[in-house]
Amino acid sequence: MASFIILAGGYTTFIASYLFNPSASSLTLLNQSPTGVNPSWIAAHPTNSSILYAVNEDTVGQLQSFLVGQNGALVNVANASSGGNGPAFANPLSTGEVAIMNFGSGDGKFVPTLEDPLEFNDTSALVKFPVPNKPAPDNASRPHMALEFGSEVLIPDLGADTVYRLSKDNTTGVYQIKGQLDSPAGSGPRHIVIKDDMLYTIHEKDNTLTQQQIPADVTAPSPIIASFNITPPNPPAGSQFAAAEIRLLPASTQFNKSYIYASNRNIGSVQDPQGDAIAIYEVEPELKFVKHVFTGLQQIRGMEFGGDEKEFLVAAGFAGDAGVKVFKRTAGGADLEFVAESKDIPTRTSFVFLDV
Ligand SMILES: *[C@@H]1O[C@H](CO)[C@@H](O)[C@H](O)[C@H]1NC(C)=O
Ligand SMILES: *[C@@H]1O[C@H](CO)[C@@H](O)[C@H](O)[C@H]1NC(C)=O
Ligand SMILES: *[C@@H]1O[C@H](CO)[C@@H](O)[C@H](O)[C@H]1NC(C)=O
Ligand SMILES: *[C@@H]1O[C@H](CO)[C@@H](O)[C@H](O)[C@H]1NC(C)=O
Ligand SMILES: *[C@@H]1O[C@H](CO)[C@@H](O)[C@H](O)[C@H]1NC(C)=O
Ligand SMILES: *[C@@H]1O[C@H](CO)[C@@H](O)[C@H](O)[C@H]1NC(C)=O
Repeated sequence: MASFIILAGGYTTFIASYLFNPSASSLTLLNQSPTGVNPSWIAAHPTNSSILYAVNEDTVGQLQSFLVGQNGALVNVANASSGGNGPAFANPLSTGEVAIMNFGSGDGKFVPTLEDPLEFNDTSALVKFPVPNKPAPDNASRPHMALEFGSEVLIPDLGADTVYRLSKDNTTGVYQIKGQLDSPAGSGPRHIVIKDDMLYTIHEKDNTLTQQQIPADVTAPSPIIASFNITPPNPPAGSQFAAAEIRLLPASTQFNKSYIYASNRNIGSVQDPQGDAIAIYEVEPELKFVKHVFTGLQQIRGMEFGGDEKEFLVAAGFAGDAGVKVFKRTAGGADLEFVAESKDIPTRTSFVFLDV
């Protein structure tokens, strides 16, 4: 079976690369490429696996591009300002722009790339999100990611309890908010996935996974169709949860149903010895809880699937020292089984899977 290179960002000054060999069930640290401060979120170019984007989640935020070389060693080619404080997410769009969202300052940018997608045209306007009408310290927009939906970009704002629908103004070329898909008050929408015209949102503050339709009319409201609390049962006293990541995999040959995988973080004073759980849900015909899989990891922020039919999941903790773990989807996608780990670097927060 083929091996994979896994790139892993984190709150360090490097991006790590690992070799994952499924046949040997081994995960081996290969490189630690320098990046500047806190490359906490990394993202692959959609069509060119030699190109990687990363944030510098710093007070003066930055977007970086890297050429991916042998064994996942990275060469920094260009940087662009994120225009704000604390970018926790960046993602390339099909337009050639790279979206970068500043969690700390409530704004973001859509930075165009040039003919060579490693090069930025750093002249894009800063998009400011509305300050929510809440008492301090909750009177702040907290945009947490950006996801394309047709010609729109959807942005969950954890501070405003809504998912904004943006599209480009035809004359100015500037992204503008055209509508919004509201989450329950105080829920804190963090990350989203879309299947057909359904939006699934993981909420950090109330630990819910919700489903709502994305109406064709951008100004139409959208009620919550389904809502589940993803917190694992019987957590130890002193636990405090803050749900983080959501991934959705459509049905394929080997995995004959669509599944959602949602991670929770126990950020409390007492950890469960089994670590944090990933909650698995069937998507169709209706959202349905399947099981919690305990990972032995503390505070999973980012996790990613890769391999044939997205068979493997890589995840790590933001806290603790459990390192990076790879799991395999089993039971047709309804379960996860541990495959390999590397404890060389104690924590990681975001991943990209590459074919060798
Ligand atoms: C990009 O930013 C990093 C971190 O600040 C810096 O070390 C590097 O020299 C910059 N690269 C370029 C091409 O300017
Ligand atoms: C990927 O991007 C690199 C850097 O711009 C370029 O040298 C290479 O030719 C590209 N590969 C493909 C397949 O487009
Ligand atoms: C960069 O963007 C600006 C503003 O849209 C545009 O005028 C300029 O031609 C672009 N530069 C390049 C090199 O594409
Ligand atoms: C939130 O309220 C505090 C206290 O009134 C104020 O200092 C701060 O500027 C406000 N923040 C924003 C983003 O408006
Ligand atoms: C703006 O562009 C969109 C997408 O190309 C198009 O559907 C829409 O009709 C345009 N609006 C105006 C006012 O030209
Ligand atoms: C779907 O996958 C499960 C688990 O591998 C299997 O038991 C079941 O028969 C499959 N169903 C269909 C319709 O292929």
